[in-house]
Amino acid sequence: MWPFSRKRHQTLADSGIFRGFTDWHSHILPGVDDGVQTMEEALQILKKYEELEIKEVWLTPHIMEDIPNTTAHLKERFNELQAAYQGSVTLNLASENMLDNLFEERLEKNDLLPIGKNKDHLLVETSYFNPPMGLYDILQHIQSKGYYPILAHPERYTYMGKGDYRKLKAMGIKFQLNIPSLAGIYGKEAQKKAEWLTEQNLYDLKGMDLHKIGLLDHLICS
Ligand SMILES: [Fe+2]
Repeated sequence: MWPFSRKRHQTLADSGIFRGFTDWHSHILPGVDDGVQTMEEALQILKKYEELEIKEVWLTPHIMEDIPNTTAHLKERFNELQAAYQGSVTLNLASENMLDNLFEERLEKNDLLPIGKNKDHLLVETSYFNPPMGLYDILQHIQSKGYYPILAHPERYTYMGKGDYRKLKAMGIKFQLNIPSLAGIYGKEAQKKAEWLTEQNLYDLKGMDLHKIGLLDHLICS
């Protein structure tokens, strides 16, 4: 299944499968979350993105109670990366927002880093194991504030089943696939869900959710 159906011995770079691709989810902005820690590694990853002919990447660092990044700090780090990077990949700053109390405070203050050309979408996530209390209410609250929620990696939530996915889509929630899920990187369960969601045509956007260069090397060489 895409992008893992290429011919044997053909590398991802050769396949051209990422030509013109936009990566909607990444932790490449260095030193701000559990992702890439150094500017050097961030620049190495962007070099590999160029080789894959990826056109654009959204940097989506975590914001959550455990990683309380501020908008100002992330913008500062983003400006540093933009100054250091001279290549062809277009860089954009947004965030991956855990649906916790901190998020609700930030939503009330409209202190947000939205995603998308019109800056009217929000990339959101929940715990992998439990939904937050009132998940559907929170998502409707986001919509009432004028934002379109994009649920990051829906295939990874162990508590979600087919009925939940259908209900969320009926509410107008967009889904973002983690490409490594299709390669089984997060286990069989997430892989099966990703395959089903792909078959059902329920994904709107794709991303790598890259936290370190190793995953990219693994995908390119596998
Ligand atoms: Fe992420």
